Amino acid sequence: PFVIADPCIDVTDKSCMEECPVDCIYEGARKLYINPFECIDCGACEPACPVEAITEDRHVAEGSEAFVDDGAAFFTIVLPGRDAALGEYPGGAQGVGAVAGDTDLVANFPREE
Ligand code: F3S
Ligand code: F3S
Repeated sequence: PFVIADPCIDVTDKSCMEECPVDCIYEGARKLYINPFECIDCGACEPACPVEAITEDRHVAEGSEAFVDDGAAFFTIVLPGRDAALGEYPGGAQGVGAVAGDTDLVANFPREE
């Protein structure tokens, strides 16, 4: 699947969401996350991102590898402010809406000054 890495953090342009035919790009507080269980690998989101945050999982930039597993974790952990995990098949980002939290990796990521 495709992955969104750290360049998205605090940018959240969201152009990628509009391109995804299966609506599998979900919104956290500081970053968006591609659901690797629902992504059909079409690649439509990749060129839409103005900060080039999106790549195939095996082509993630050096130093950003942690965002591959972290992207999946967004769906399997209980996020702040929720009482259950979103799950592997939440059924589309439109129905879920913006989640008011992130994974620890993203929540604790240094902010740009
Ligand atoms: Fe959607 Fe991008 Fe996957 S457009 S299907 S998240 S490759
Ligand atoms: Fe983030 Fe780029 Fe999408 S900044 S929200 S991955 S268009």
